[in-house]
This record gives sequence, structure tokens and C-alpha cells, in this order.
Amino acid sequence: MEKLLELLSEELKQAFEDAGYDKNLGKATISNRPDLCEFQCNGAMAGAKQLKTAPLLIAQKVAEILTKNPIFSEVVAVAPGFLNLKLDEGHLKAYLEQMTKEDKFGVKEPKQKKTIMIDYGGPNVAKPLHIGHLRSAIIGESIKRIARYQGHQVIGDVHLGDWGQPMGLVINELKLRKPDLIYFDDTYQGEYPQDAPFSITELEDIYPTASKKSKEDSEFKEKAMEATFRLQNGDRGYRALWKHILDVSVTDLKTIYDKLNVEFDLWKGESDVDHKLADMVAYMKENGYARISEGALVVDVKEETDTKEIPPCMILKSDGAALYNTTDLATIMERMEVYQPDTMIYVVDKRQDLYFEQVFRCAKKTKLIGENTTLKFLGFGTMNGKDGKPFKTRDGGVMRLETLLKETNEEMYRKITTNRAMEEEEAVQTAKIVALAAIKYGDLSNQAAKDYIFDIDRFTSFEGDTGPYLLYTIVRIKSILNKYVEQGGNLDNVSLKEAGSASEKNLMLEISKFNSMIETAYEETAPHKVCAFLYDMANAFNTFYHDTKILSEEDKDKQAGYIALLLLTKNLLETCIDLLGFSAPDRM
Ligand code: ARG
Repeated sequence: MEKLLELLSEELKQAFEDAGYDKNLGKATISNRPDLCEFQCNGAMAGAKQLKTAPLLIAQKVAEILTKNPIFSEVVAVAPGFLNLKLDEGHLKAYLEQMTKEDKFGVKEPKQKKTIMIDYGGPNVAKPLHIGHLRSAIIGESIKRIARYQGHQVIGDVHLGDWGQPMGLVINELKLRKPDLIYFDDTYQGEYPQDAPFSITELEDIYPTASKKSKEDSEFKEKAMEATFRLQNGDRGYRALWKHILDVSVTDLKTIYDKLNVEFDLWKGESDVDHKLADMVAYMKENGYARISEGALVVDVKEETDTKEIPPCMILKSDGAALYNTTDLATIMERMEVYQPDTMIYVVDKRQDLYFEQVFRCAKKTKLIGENTTLKFLGFGTMNGKDGKPFKTRDGGVMRLETLLKETNEEMYRKITTNRAMEEEEAVQTAKIVALAAIKYGDLSNQAAKDYIFDIDRFTSFEGDTGPYLLYTIVRIKSILNKYVEQGGNLDNVSLKEAGSASEKNLMLEISKFNSMIETAYEETAPHKVCAFLYDMANAFNTFYHDTKILSEEDKDKQAGYIALLLLTKNLLETCIDLLGFSAPDRM
């Protein structure tokens, strides 16, 4: 269905035209003086410039016509030339009724259904997930859900870091620790064992050790590079061992993403395009896109309009080795072949923005993507601690994602159990649900590109602009609805009524913004717009709740109207938190 602002703009256009002015001046916006009106139109100001007359005169003439229009309950022309508007209660009710009836509350299917690939998560195999990866997972998941809700075909790809140097480091360290493993026996011809010769705990210890050694010990580093080379060139034993590393790591990753309510459609990684690298490199050479520079193969990507230096995109190092760029470009090539996406969105730390600029330009220049394919980098800022520096553990180390989750769960559990008595099991489960909301909302309510401070006390608070506050609001509504049913009410038999108070109307007006909010959140890849909408709606509901007696209302018809409004509010709130990737408990 049409967005409310568009419907109102239609009426305004007609009025401007009828008054003898350019109809394009008729545009409704949300009022920036909510104390005076709900909507406004500034068209008379622009019209006055064109016609060199007084804006107030135009506004008055248009107002005279609009006053007769039943869609507005109040139209006032005010100096210097604004039109202040209030929506008629009956029309507002009808609009919400339509939202209730329609699929997705009236969000229209897109004119053109797009295929969108979202590259997010980006964990590195064999390395524990740290909080840097948290943002990518949270933001990417939400963007995926919003785009899907808008009606597009969306494919989420985790794009594992599972190739290259880190793998060589792990293999080399394993070789030192367990030299007798069959994988290192070059003469071995048989099948390799099914089970991995290490556990996830061991694996997580191996990588940091190896990484540290490679920085201090040049012989170790050289051996690790050799191991990488052998792996990438198909050494049987190394490949088999690597497969174990991958399996053990991915199993562990899946459990964590599961806890985060993050789900990928594709578990592809850098290694999956290894077989394409040679062809891609040949293609770039043959078509004259790539040139040799100091032994390395590069593609120039600078443009005349650049204001800063954009270095060439390196395709192969001077020793012939592939890099992060190479696998990313080959992945673009493969995605185009298999999925023909219209858009690829990369949700990655904003410090990689120059890198992606190079890769995107290179993909465009070498025609790996079509003319109409969009590559979009959604760079996110850093999650900082209260001291404003990147988030650390108490002893100054890198915070593991699991530790963060555990600590937030505990804090939430403490708050919930001090709030009310609850069975142990339910309290634990509820704490998990609410903690996830605390973390995700804390992250998503900021504009993605900005740094933000992870403040566990604030994020887990039941008051203010927080996840728990929203969940608390939903739980409150659920409880009223349950009591209504217990009192013999039937939720299928309720229907909306015209607003009878300012707070009721305000809640209805908030609700009416839903479909334009979704559109903006999608177009601007901006989950924080969903958050702002949720917070406004929750506030509007709580104000309404405080000055309305709902369950004790004696006029049953009026009461049924309230309940219908509550149902719609709850359904919208739940839809929105689902778009952010979390859910609400039944009680808290
Ligand atoms: N694994 C990378 C990292 O930890 C992120 C991957 C981002 N995606 C991509 N296509 N490069 O930094």
C-alpha cells in the first residue's frame, strides 16, 4: 500500500493545483514542530520564490482548499508560509486497518526483485572469533533480513578466511608438535583417518603460538610459507590435514553463530575459488588489464578524479603467490557466474575501505562484473571499551566473542533474577534471549560506520534506548493480551477504533510510519533506522499505556479497540526485532 506521506502529498498536490500553483510544491513531511502539528508542507515557501509573492498568501489560498478535505482534521497556514496539518482520526484508523489486513503490513513488493549477495561474518579458520567479527555478523544479518523483508532475493555468504598464510602457520606448528602424524609422511599412499588429530581447544592454542613464532623466528616463518605453498599446490597429506582444520573450526563457528541467531546460506571461503585463480590471472593478462611491476602482477586502478593516492591492485606477489585480493576477485567472478547478483554488499571493518576500493575498481575495470552490478562496501567502526579504546579483556588481551557473550548472559541473569522470582531454567533461558538483544541492539542502534562504546551496564538496562527496554515493552503487551483472553476476550474479534486521546493518536501515527521506515532502512542499508522506529514506538506505547486504563475499561467496544491497537503494536515490534536478529521472551 502507499506510504502515508505519499497519500498526503497527493492531496496537497491537488490543492496546490486547484489554487492555481505548481502541483509539485505539494509535498508532505513529518512535522518538525510536533507540539503544533503532525505533518507540514513547506511548498508555499518555494512557490513564493518562483512567483515572487508572499509565501503566506500562497499557504492561505491552499489552506482554504485543504480545509474542505476530510483527510485533514486541521489545516493552518502560519507565518512565514508553512502549512501545519493534522490527520483526521478516521483516516488514520482506516490506514492502520489496511496495514493489519495486508501482507507485511502493507510493504509493497519491489518493482524489480533484485538478487543481493551479502558477504559478512568473515571469520578466519583456526582463529577464535573475537569481537571484531561480532559487528560484521550482527550488522550483516540484519541487513540480510531487511532486504529480504523488502522482497528481494538475498544470499548471505560467510566468506571464510580459510586459505593462505595462516593455514601454513597452523600446519607448520602441528608438524613441530606432532611430527609423526601420517599427514607428514610423503611416502604414505593410503586413506587418511576420518577424525581430526586435534581438538578445537588445541587448534585455538596452535594459531596464536604459530603466529607469534612467525614474527620472532625467521626459520619458522619460512617453513610456514613452504607449508602454505605445499597446501595450495595440492599436497595430499597437507590437504587432508587442512580439511580437518576446516571441519573442526567450522563446527565450532556454527555453534557460535547459532547462539548469535546468525545464519548463512553459503559457507564458502577463500579456498573455494582456488581453482579459478589461474584462469582469472590469464584472463587479466591476455586482455591487457594487468602489468608486471617489480616482479608482481598488478592492475592499475587509479582514476583522474582521485584526491588521494590509490595504489595498484596486486593480483600476484613477485613469488607468484596469490593474495587476499586474488581470492576476493575470483570470488566476485564466481558469484557472477553462479548467482548473477545485482548487488554484492561487503560488511567489513571500515579500516579495509581502501582495500575494497581497489578490489571494486579492479573488478569493474577488468569486467568481472557487469555494467549494472553494484559492489557496495559497508564499513563498520570499532567497538570500544568505556575508556574509548578498542575493547579488551580485563587483563588487556583481545576479548573473545564467547567471553563477551558469557559475561553479558551473566549480567542479564543477575538483573532478571533480582527483578522477579523465576525458575532457574527459565531464568537462564530468558537471560540468554535478553542478553542477545542487549548486545545486538547496542550495536545496531548506532550508525554502522561509527565507533561505539560497549557499555554492559547501559546495554543491559531495562530503561532507556536499549534492547531489554524494547523486550520489556513487548512482554508487557503480551501480558495484557493474555489477561484480556483470561477475562474472556477474544483476540480475533477486536477491531481498531478512532483514537480517543493524544497518546493513542500518537501511537497510531508512529505505527503508520512503518512502511516508509522499512524502505529507508533497506535503501540506506541502515538497521539503526529500524532501531529508532522501535524506540519511538515503544515510547509511544508506554505513554499510551500509562494514561489509559485498558483491562479495567468498562466500555467493551472501546476496550476491544485498545486491544486491537496493542495487537498491531506487538506484531510490529516483533517483526522489527526479528529484522534486527533477536526475539522476545514470554516473561521477564
Ligand atoms: N576474514 C577477513 C578478516 O577477518 C574478513 C573477510 C571479509 N570479506 C571479504 N570478502 N574479504 O579480516
